[in-house]
Amino acid sequence: MRHKIVAGNWKMNNNLIETEELIKDLKNELKTVKLSEETRVIIAPSFVNLHAATKTTEESLIEVAAQNMHFAENGAYTGEVSAAMLTSLEVKTVILGHSERRSYFNEADDILVKKVNTALNNELEIIFCFGESLEDREQDNHFKVVESQLKNALFHLKSSNFTKIVLAYEPVWAIGTGKTASADQAQEMHSFIRKLLATQYNQELANSVSILYGGSVKPANAEEIFSKPDVDGGLIGGASLKAKDFTAIIKAI
Ligand code: 13P
Repeated sequence: MRHKIVAGNWKMNNNLIETEELIKDLKNELKTVKLSEETRVIIAPSFVNLHAATKTTEESLIEVAAQNMHFAENGAYTGEVSAAMLTSLEVKTVILGHSERRSYFNEADDILVKKVNTALNNELEIIFCFGESLEDREQDNHFKVVESQLKNALFHLKSSNFTKIVLAYEPVWAIGTGKTASADQAQEMHSFIRKLLATQYNQELANSVSILYGGSVKPANAEEIFSKPDVDGGLIGGASLKAKDFTAIIKAI
């Protein structure tokens, strides 16, 4: 179902104490916020702090997601984390395909297909990230690149699987750079993505999928980006690490 979503990707930040503190601060800040029923707030701390995060968010509206997982169900994969380990912690959502995973850890489409399938087999919801590089944008290849990222990792799925998929368009050139896509650039891409879904599946499915924008979303620009009809929320990096800033972004939804 299409929701408004503000999700914080904490990346490799915050130790155990800091994780608990930030969640407590966020819960406090959120006391003053009236969220509509269609709005979801998600945080994605590191693996080692997920258990503490699920405990600290109990009886709050904040949901907890993982930032990654391995594609195998279990086995000899030293240092990796499985889908079943996440679900055993009551984690219900996993971020897959983040550009940092793609570029620093060589996560190509073939690996992402396996991860997507394993996550769905374990009934995890997926926040699937994709987006073009600066070079792709400058060469006017951004639509082609996004289309192939979606086709290669997701378009083998049945339409019923899409109840468990949230899309996150994150142009690589806007991540952590302070350079946001304009609200019009975000809308243009999100509308393109919805048309792709309608062509590949059907209009009803296309209308039901939440499409988030990510890349230097801050309190100052969130409202304008979220005002666009095909932007259903944001995946926030840096600004999700401060309770006040993240709350201000949540208020903008
Ligand atoms: P920033 O908001 O820090 O640009 O990061 C965006 C991001 O990568 C979220 O996944």
